[in-house]
Amino acid sequence: MRIGITSGLTHARILEAEALCTTIRAIREKCVAMPAWVYILIGTIAVGLIGLVLYWQLVVAEGAYLGTRIVALLYDWFAPHYDRVKQYDKTSDAIVLAMPIMRHLARRRAMTGHPSSAVVLDVGTGTGRLPDALLSQSRFRGHIVALDASGRMLSLAKAKLASHADRITFLQRDAQRLPFDADTFDVVTCLEALEFMRDWRGAVKEMVRVLKPGGLLMVSNRIGPDAWKLPGRALPTEAFVAWLSELNLQQVQPQRWLVDYDLVIGIKG
Ligand SMILES: C[S@@+](CC[C@H](N)C(=O)[O-])C[C@H]1O[C@@H](n2cnc3c(N)ncnc32)[C@H](O)[C@@H]1O
Repeated sequence: MRIGITSGLTHARILEAEALCTTIRAIREKCVAMPAWVYILIGTIAVGLIGLVLYWQLVVAEGAYLGTRIVALLYDWFAPHYDRVKQYDKTSDAIVLAMPIMRHLARRRAMTGHPSSAVVLDVGTGTGRLPDALLSQSRFRGHIVALDASGRMLSLAKAKLASHADRITFLQRDAQRLPFDADTFDVVTCLEALEFMRDWRGAVKEMVRVLKPGGLLMVSNRIGPDAWKLPGRALPTEAFVAWLSELNLQQVQPQRWLVDYDLVIGIKG
């Protein structure tokens, strides 16, 4: 009797398996029988999608999700065209970037009575936009450390600022691990660069760490119509300001700057 039940069950399984095989065979035959244009369409869509992803990763996001090495490589390639494409407005840079730093340094000198020259760190300096703006101020007496991951961007900055060679040090490093002691710099800036860093929050914490108490942090926050193309790489400015305020920064103030960036400054407590 038991043998009869068991063999009945086995027989049912065999039938099920056969039915499954028949279905698979039918699907396979249908697939094989698909007209050529279906394959061409699927292929075209696949290639298009891969192209779109590559375009987003390499052109729109400038390698931001592929790691610092790829970002640096892309900037190395693009470096000779960078200034021409960006077309920085030197007057605006002097007013919006250099003047707040000059005012801050003057206030600090007045408060501490220290005539010593300031040390400024510019993170993601690129072709030296911030150093250029500061060194063009005749009253600026300090020294600048210009750090970037791209050697070619730094070479162009070096050439551009050759007449100030004794007042600027160039450093090819990843901004996410700053090779400086805590409380080293009077001013730390980072313009149009945070969104390319995988750990941008860690990078900002590093900037705050190396800033002296009472020192000024000036960073840009990506906003504007293209910000959504870099998910996770910026916060709405209000949230960014709130987050900075939690990092021992005081008087954190945002200001509209460019179409794609707000500028935010704060003082280390
Ligand atoms: C859009 S450019 C901005 C350059 C400059 N601050 C300016 O305003 O013109 C971004 C720069 O950030 C640098 N960068 C991006 N990620 C970096 C990282 N993890 N460490 C150091 N530099 C980085 C790039 O190499 C590039 O030179």
